[in-house]
Amino acid sequence: METTHELDRLGQDARSRIAEATTIDALEAVRIAFLGKQGSISALLKSLGRMSAEERQAQAPAIQALRQQVSDEIARRREALESAALEQRLAAERLDLTLPAPQAPGGSVHPVAQVMDELAEIFADLGFSVATGPEIEDDWTNFTALNMPESHPARAMHDTFYFPDASPTGGRMLLRTHTSPVQVRTMLATAKDHPGGAPLRIIAPGRVYRSDSDATHTPMFHQVEGLVIDRDIHLGHLKWTLETFLKAFFEREDIVLRLRPSYFPFTEPSVEVDVGFALDNGRRVLGGSGDAPGHGWMELLGSGMVNRRVIAMSGLDPDVWQGFAFGVGVDRLAMLKYGMDDLRAFFDGDVRSLRHYRFSAFDQPTLSAGVGARA
Ligand code: DAH
Repeated sequence: METTHELDRLGQDARSRIAEATTIDALEAVRIAFLGKQGSISALLKSLGRMSAEERQAQAPAIQALRQQVSDEIARRREALESAALEQRLAAERLDLTLPAPQAPGGSVHPVAQVMDELAEIFADLGFSVATGPEIEDDWTNFTALNMPESHPARAMHDTFYFPDASPTGGRMLLRTHTSPVQVRTMLATAKDHPGGAPLRIIAPGRVYRSDSDATHTPMFHQVEGLVIDRDIHLGHLKWTLETFLKAFFEREDIVLRLRPSYFPFTEPSVEVDVGFALDNGRRVLGGSGDAPGHGWMELLGSGMVNRRVIAMSGLDPDVWQGFAFGVGVDRLAMLKYGMDDLRAFFDGDVRSLRHYRFSAFDQPTLSAGVGARA
C-alpha cells in the first residue's frame, strides 16, 4: 500500500527529472520511466487491480491524480522545449531576400555567332543591312550569274557538293560554295521591287560548303559577303570601307591594308586584301605595316569592283550602277580576333571550348560597340 508520502516523493522526483530534461529525447526517457508500460506510475496503477475494493477506493484518486499531473507536466515541458528549439532555429537560419540568386546554368554564344553579330553591328553603323539567301542554291545563282559559265575552271576549284536533282533553271542544285550568290539574289530582288533597283548596301553572313577537310578546312564554314551598288562607287570607297570595318572589328587604329591585284570572275578589277601583322613570340598580332622589319602581310579577303556582266545578269543596268563587293571567312576572323588556333574546335560540338570563351547572350562585353566607339 502506497502512503501519501511515497506518492509525493514520486511526484517530486518526476517533476525534478522533467525540469532537468533539456531535450525532447531526454524528456521522452523521463516519460517512459514514469508513464511507460514498465514505468513506476504505471506500476502503481497496475497494483490497483490487486487491491480490495476499499483499498482501491482510498488509493485510486491519488494515483490517478499523480499520473495526470506528471503527464500534464511532461506536455508543458515538451511544448516549452519545442518552442525553444524553434526560436533557436529561427535565430540561426536567416533568409536574406536581398542576396543575389545562384546563377542558373546557362548556354553561351558560339564564337562564330558572336563574330557575325559584331559584323552586323559594325556594318549597321555604315548603313548596311543584313541580307540572306538559301544554303541549297541553284548553279545559275552560285556560278553562272557570277560570271562563271558552265565550262569555267573556277567551278572545278570550288569542290562543290551537288544534288542529283535538276534545278529550276535547268542546271543542278548544290550546297552554295560561297555567299556571293546572295549578291545576285539581292540585286534581282531590288531590281524587281524598285524600278531602278539601287542603291544597295548589304552584308550577307552565312554558311557555305565545300568538299574539303583538314586542319584548316571544314566541309562547312562561314563567310560574310559585302555588296555596295550605287551610281558613282570606286575602289577608294572599297578601301575606306574595309579599313573602317577592320579597325572597328579588331579594335585597333593601326590596322594597315595592302591591296594586291588579283582575279575573281565576278569582280573587275579584283583585289586581294592583305593585313599587316607583327610577330610577338611567334604569334601573329595584327597591326602596323607588313613591310616593317619583323612584320609580314597576311591574306585576309577577296574583293573588287563588281563585274558589269554580274550587274547585268542580276537585272540592273551596268551603265547606271556600279559598286564593290568583298567576301571574307568569318571563322578566320573569329580565330584571328580571339586567338583560337584550331578551326575544327568550332564545329566538333565540345562545350568545353564554348565555356572557355563564354560569350553571353545577354551581356556582351566583347561585342564591338560599333564604328567610331574607339578611343
Ligand atoms: N566568293 C569568293 C570565295 O568564296 C570570295 C570573294 C572574292 C567574294 C571577291 C567577293 C569578292 O565578293 O569580290 O572565294
